[in-house]
Amino acid sequence: DTSETIALQEPPPGSLVESIKEFTKIFVQKLAEEEYRSQIRITWSIGGLHFSQTQVVFSQFTTRENFIRNLGRITYLGKGTYTDCALKNMTHQITRNYAGSKDVLFSVVITDGHVTGSPCSGIKMMSDKALDQGVHIFSVAASRSIDELGMREIASSPLEVYRDDYIVMEIVDGKPKLSTKSIDRIIKVMKYQAYLQCYKPACMEVPGIPGRKGASGPKGVKGNRGKMGLKGHKGKQGDPGIEGSIGQPGLKVCSDSFSALVSKHVVFYFNNSCFAFAQGENGFKGEKVRGDQGLPGPRGEPGEPGVPGGNGTLGNPGEPGPRGEPGPSGPKVRRGDKGRSGFSYPGPGEPGQPGQPGDRGPQGEAGKDGDPGPVGDPGLTDCDVMTYMRETCGCCDCEKYCGALDIVFVIDSSESIGLTNFTLEKNFIINTINRLGSMASDPASLTGTRVGVVQFSHKGTFEAIRLDDSTINSMSAFKTAVRNLQWIAGGTFMPSALKFAYDHLIRESKRAHAKVSVVVVTDGRFDPADDDSLLRYLCNYPGVEVNAIGVGDMFDKKHDSETLVSVACNNKNRITEMKQYADLVAESFIERLETVLCPDPVIKCPDLPCKSELDVAPCVGRPVDLVFLLDGSERLGTENFNHFRSFVQQVASTLVMAKTRNDQNWARLALIEFGKENENEVAFPLTHDSNVISTGLSRLTYLDSSSSTGPAILHAIDNIMGKGNTRKTRRGAEVSFVFVTDGITNTSSLDKAVSAMRREQITSTVIATGNDVDQQVLTKLALESQEAIFKAPKFSDLLESSLFDRFIRWIC
Ligand SMILES: *[C@@H]1O[C@H](CO)[C@@H](O)[C@H](O)[C@H]1NC(C)=O
Ligand SMILES: *[C@@H]1O[C@H](CO)[C@@H](O)[C@H](O)[C@H]1NC(C)=O
Ligand SMILES: *[C@@H]1O[C@H](CO)[C@@H](O)[C@H](O)[C@H]1NC(C)=O
Ligand SMILES: *[C@@H]1O[C@H](CO)[C@@H](O)[C@H](O)[C@H]1NC(C)=O
Repeated sequence: DTSETIALQEPPPGSLVESIKEFTKIFVQKLAEEEYRSQIRITWSIGGLHFSQTQVVFSQFTTRENFIRNLGRITYLGKGTYTDCALKNMTHQITRNYAGSKDVLFSVVITDGHVTGSPCSGIKMMSDKALDQGVHIFSVAASRSIDELGMREIASSPLEVYRDDYIVMEIVDGKPKLSTKSIDRIIKVMKYQAYLQCYKPACMEVPGIPGRKGASGPKGVKGNRGKMGLKGHKGKQGDPGIEGSIGQPGLKVCSDSFSALVSKHVVFYFNNSCFAFAQGENGFKGEKVRGDQGLPGPRGEPGEPGVPGGNGTLGNPGEPGPRGEPGPSGPKVRRGDKGRSGFSYPGPGEPGQPGQPGDRGPQGEAGKDGDPGPVGDPGLTDCDVMTYMRETCGCCDCEKYCGALDIVFVIDSSESIGLTNFTLEKNFIINTINRLGSMASDPASLTGTRVGVVQFSHKGTFEAIRLDDSTINSMSAFKTAVRNLQWIAGGTFMPSALKFAYDHLIRESKRAHAKVSVVVVTDGRFDPADDDSLLRYLCNYPGVEVNAIGVGDMFDKKHDSETLVSVACNNKNRITEMKQYADLVAESFIERLETVLCPDPVIKCPDLPCKSELDVAPCVGRPVDLVFLLDGSERLGTENFNHFRSFVQQVASTLVMAKTRNDQNWARLALIEFGKENENEVAFPLTHDSNVISTGLSRLTYLDSSSSTGPAILHAIDNIMGKGNTRKTRRGAEVSFVFVTDGITNTSSLDKAVSAMRREQITSTVIATGNDVDQQVLTKLALESQEAIFKAPKFSDLLESSLFDRFIRWIC
């Protein structure tokens, strides 16, 4: 995009266009020919066009070198922006060259999301057309000054992959900087997609049959050679290795014989879960996925010592023999085929539902003893898949649970708001629920989040998605139901809608301990024929909280503002006013609403197979000084105190620690336990030395008193970090405080201490265990960042790999 909004965004005119050219150049330089995963060979050919109201093909498909030369000649077009026409022309250029070929096609669109017109049928339509031709579009923001909705329209689905906050110019420390990270992430997805489309494993036959047997278990490794016998006699040979562990189960996965090679979506089936990037759109194409490599069996037992002989004097015992070589891994077995997907492609009809995941294949047989099996092909292991998914969409991350919570949205579907605004309301609901994470899988269960929707227009037209609708048993079912709500486009009977919400949704399906939150979106207008005494209808029921969102300029008038106050039962904190419906889907607003609806989430992490596997050595190549502040009050308990010690030990052995006292990089740790005021016990100061850490931990005693966090923070800043000449942190080090507390503490000098932390630019993490926590104090300690609060029912949960890994990733 070289339109005016881009060209004139930064002074001097054209400078952002130059940055985009530089970004593109770096991007293209990274497109190297390579053997990917030793399975496919990747070569690239690159073309380009830039656009505003018109399009200019500045480079036909060519080599990197030629492309870069052509790129240099771009001068910006200025004027308005017709992104849809640019997509159309791009698709035309690609298909002209590559229609019918097996090439994997991508487009990277760099723009700000603003358009001045849509003479070519609109972005969505053109983006879909491109996808029909096999062109996947990445949507990259030129800067932070964008229209995110526009950016999303451009991107292919799933958005988590194709519009993953990619950006050209990032602001770092107040200065603009090219984001090469975005480049690397995009190229990674491209290569992986190419791999999925191009790599054809040998086992392609017969789609759709039930999953094959899982991999046969890996072979045990050869045993250690036995200890040498006494002098003069041979030792016995070592025992064979014990049985290998059971092979990974095979998986049956979705497949459609015709479409397997033109997949548009990536679906992974994994244990019993089906992670799909996009739901409810086109059904997914099947993918062939390679089987896993068998795990190596455990090491064999050492052999028996040799029998002493009867002749001569006894010699000294021999040295233990060298360890036997591990046997090669077991043979590779592919996963079963995918089940059939349930959609029609690329027919013109309605998109189908996603296909059902196939059943799991039966378990593989256990491995046999001892003898080495042939080495299998390297395949796409579960860990590869998990890593990919984590990096591209984060969908295997820990999930958030909000406890027993019912949320009812009441949205305006009257004529006055218009179809676009109505659609924004629906998107608002979907985005909000997305952020809340999980939904109750059974609407009748006593726990979990359930969501209902009432859309209102005039009397008798109210339409609802009920809280206890048994067909709404998943996030995607709910989203589909919301998308299917039709704009009623009649009058506005908002007060009656509130009564309807209670009488028809809430009252009938109330759960014992559930909190009920109602979110009302209104432009403040309602039909004078309606009964305005009903505005406060929901205020009559304790346990029901009402959040009122007023959209538009009506609320400048006192009267309408009062409407909002009434709806929110006079609680001014629960009122939000905004100028336009588009603000409903602003990230910042939804984030705030999220903390209102789910103030006290519990995070649960999936049990991943890649135990304690961290992608890179954590906290690499930079100085990180980590200070633990342990609340030693009696609320902690001896058991948690002991778990905490193991936790610190585990952190020390997971992080790459600084190598010497003077090492300017890597991690160092310190630990202080605090009780009541000035009862601060430093177990060890900032150190790289694991002996100092172990000794400090073993000598540390449990204070078992009360606690006062403020003085402990100040003590840590003065004594552990040090000041001026006695500064003990390293130059440029990230200093990170990790609090272990439930927040129940003497808060007398807390605010002062928290300001001091901010002043010292300390980052903060809070670990809170137990059910009785003071959220307000935890939030203060976490410097207002909810993500920095790690909650777990028991401290021992933190030692488990998924939560522990998340902690390490967060710290680093
Ligand atoms: C694409 O843009 C070029 C100008 O570079 C123009 O000549 C051509 O007609 C356009 N094609 C389409 C299909 O819009
Ligand atoms: C050990 O000694 C016995 C007699 O004492 C003899 O018969 C045997 O051959 C000897 N064995 C060896 C290995 O020297
Ligand atoms: C959508 O709402 C905005 C206020 O947010 C309003 O200005 C606009 O006219 C509405 N659209 C329609 C089609 O009524
Ligand atoms: C909290 O600490 C302050 C001073 O540090 C002290 O005066 C006060 O008594 C403490 N409060 C409680 C409840 O212990």
